[in-house]
Amino acid sequence: MCGIVGYAGPKPAIDVVNEGLRRLEYRGYDSAGVALMADGEIVTEKRAGKLSNLAEAVAARGGMTGPHVGIGHTRWATHGAPTDRNAHPHVSVDGRTAVIHNGIIENFAQLRAELEGDGVEFTSDTDTECVAHLLAREVGQGVDLTEGMRRVCRRLQGAFTLLAVHGDAPGTVVGARRNSPLVAGVGDGEYFLASDVAAFIRHTREAIELGQDQVVTITADGYSITDFEGEPTDGTPFHVDWDASAAEKNGYEYFMLKEIAEQPRAVADTLRGRFDVGGGIILDEVRMSDQDFRDIDKIFIVACGTSYHAGMVAKYAIEHWVRLPCEVELASEFRYRDPVLDRSTMVIVISQSGETMDTLMALRHARTQKARVLAISNTVGSTIPRESDAVLYTRAGIEVAVASTKAFLTQLAACYLVGLHLAAVRGIKYVDEVAAVVAELAETPEKIATVLAGMEPVRELAKRMGTADRALFIGRHVGYPVALEGALKLKELAYMHAEGFAAGELKHGPISLIEEGTPVVVVVPSPRGRSLLHDKVLSNIQEVKARGATVIAIAEDGDDVVAPHVDHVVFTPRTSTLLAPLLTALPLQVFACELAAAKGHDIDQPRNLAKSVTVE
Ligand code: AGP
Repeated sequence: MCGIVGYAGPKPAIDVVNEGLRRLEYRGYDSAGVALMADGEIVTEKRAGKLSNLAEAVAARGGMTGPHVGIGHTRWATHGAPTDRNAHPHVSVDGRTAVIHNGIIENFAQLRAELEGDGVEFTSDTDTECVAHLLAREVGQGVDLTEGMRRVCRRLQGAFTLLAVHGDAPGTVVGARRNSPLVAGVGDGEYFLASDVAAFIRHTREAIELGQDQVVTITADGYSITDFEGEPTDGTPFHVDWDASAAEKNGYEYFMLKEIAEQPRAVADTLRGRFDVGGGIILDEVRMSDQDFRDIDKIFIVACGTSYHAGMVAKYAIEHWVRLPCEVELASEFRYRDPVLDRSTMVIVISQSGETMDTLMALRHARTQKARVLAISNTVGSTIPRESDAVLYTRAGIEVAVASTKAFLTQLAACYLVGLHLAAVRGIKYVDEVAAVVAELAETPEKIATVLAGMEPVRELAKRMGTADRALFIGRHVGYPVALEGALKLKELAYMHAEGFAAGELKHGPISLIEEGTPVVVVVPSPRGRSLLHDKVLSNIQEVKARGATVIAIAEDGDDVVAPHVDHVVFTPRTSTLLAPLLTALPLQVFACELAAAKGHDIDQPRNLAKSVTVE
């Protein structure tokens, strides 16, 4: 949710911070602000709305290029509306302390009451502002900024990454984290703090991941890390090996278009070199033995949003291949439902960002119940993989557009690998059976490229559908989660009422939504797979057609039966039923993107959303 950047070094801090915020804007874009240290004085600028509003305000002040130390913030609002006054940084009453924050301080109401009791007048509705006042109070009592931060952190509950500057420590930025991400960048005579390495990748590729409950202090000369009690500690150094250009649009109008186009490569990368000769997958970090995989007697897949839809597809594959019961759960519901978990349960958590708080909390709940956790994530070293027993990284590369595309496809690929691995390790499938599916998987990148090359009719169709006020998506079996994903894409991008349904469920209520011309997108299963499924979906098409729907079918090449019964049909290459989502999801991504573009919406940063949701 919010993106934060801090800098200490020889460059104009505003340039480094602005550039960092631009790369972190995907994390939140309700408002943005900076605090810079100028000769022991803090100067701030902040504005509601996109980063461009802040840039204009900074330019109107002559660029603010003097200071070499500063912090910056781009916000996804939690406490307080997205206004100028609620934008970060928040500054103490004496103007000497400035703080930015990502997360939620759960005991802010008590802290605010305490501070107001001491006569502090608040100028915003945020939970963050109390940190600025508490920190000012600590430093005012004679401790240095780092110790002040530790003392404040010990009083805070909830999730937070904090960065602060203080007039008494003009060369210093102090950061702290609990349950929210923070990495340090180690440059040559310059140091960085940020929510994500993307913020400083142009300056250095050497990074340090901060652990839970740690405080970090940077100056132009170095950095130091302690825990909240002041014990010196180390972060985890890592080298960032992706290219800075990966975070650029490279000629595409939107990141989403670029990321859709990258899917053949992303899936190929995720599959590459992943199988050993025995049919097992090569996990990236394994704190689980093959015996652990054999001891499992049930599986839960836990995730949010698009990742949840990938998990729904995985359920079909795992139950079919592994013959183990597999439940899929929304992470935000999982721990509150008090699921029955024990040592023989495996929980697969799926998260592109590796930071989603709902998923992280579900993971922690699972581990306290002694379940073994396998993470599927796209973000190396993020919290969710770090806290899991084993990790399989998708290799989608950085995904900037808020609407997930290539992350979804690579999650599907990773889920298939996990399913096959379980089947191999548990002796349910022979090595040659696993190899046959792997060989088919290896063909999908080319098929994905074929589908993407034929998307012009989908684009045209989407433009013509721009006036529709709603759409339904239906499918059966693995087509059902694809339908849900298609509807999610349309909701988040086109701000349209779109719903996905299991096609068979329509007649139990939702069919009453259909009026003359209502668009219904149908994910049609292969007629070569289970013909029963295909026939049932054909019946569902008849049902909606009879009520006036305009039907758009996604069908397999060679399916001659569907075309006469629908208004539009988009064909995808032949593949086996379980792998079909790797292809059938593509037209739905393009459809949503083009329809939203036709409506003039912001494709990469849809309203009210943020790329990674680090609050519960
Ligand atoms: C979908 O387009 C969204 N970006 C969203 O549903 C996302 O998949 C969800 O918030 C989970 O994120 P994660 O994979 O980073 O945990």
